[in-house]
Amino acid sequence: MTTPRTERIAVCPGSFDPITEGHMDVIRRASQMFERVFVAVTGDLDKEPMFSVAERVAMAREACQDLSNVAVDSFSGLVVEYAKRQGAVALIKGLRAVSDFEREMQMAWMNRQLAPEVYTVFLVPHPDYAFLSSSLVKEVASLGGEVSQFVPATVFKRLQDKVGGSQ
Ligand code: PNS
Repeated sequence: MTTPRTERIAVCPGSFDPITEGHMDVIRRASQMFERVFVAVTGDLDKEPMFSVAERVAMAREACQDLSNVAVDSFSGLVVEYAKRQGAVALIKGLRAVSDFEREMQMAWMNRQLAPEVYTVFLVPHPDYAFLSSSLVKEVASLGGEVSQFVPATVFKRLQDKVGGSQ
């Protein structure tokens, strides 16, 4: 007989380069739905990130410090294998505009093929962040635009350091 699971665990995977208020909105909601949440920062990226894995993990940790049931971790390899190692039942993804839909559905479908026991759960970010992305934040910050309302304070500070304090 298997022991019944006592807590529902979810994984919020992503590049988090850097973590934004849109991510935070989804993570906060996930932390209300699940007993334990792992924010999982991938070390495998196709393109060169602005921030190292250690920096991305540090920023996410600082941003999530008030969420007592949220832990921040890094991973490499398949996200479903990481989720299984953590005993997670769900992968949480934020679904913003229609533009996210096809890629997210492809990933959800593949992850389901690979591990049917791990469910993909899509959450809708707050409308204020519906079109927000890490890439846009980095672009605007490096061109001297104001991004403080889109990222946690700790990220804003590190962005300023990274782009030479041009804001
Ligand atoms: O923030 P992003 O870049 O949209 O996150 C994408 C991420 C990290 C969730 C995705 O690339 C991923 O799951 N990578 C881990 C490798 C993997 O499992 N690939 C197959 C997914 S179908």
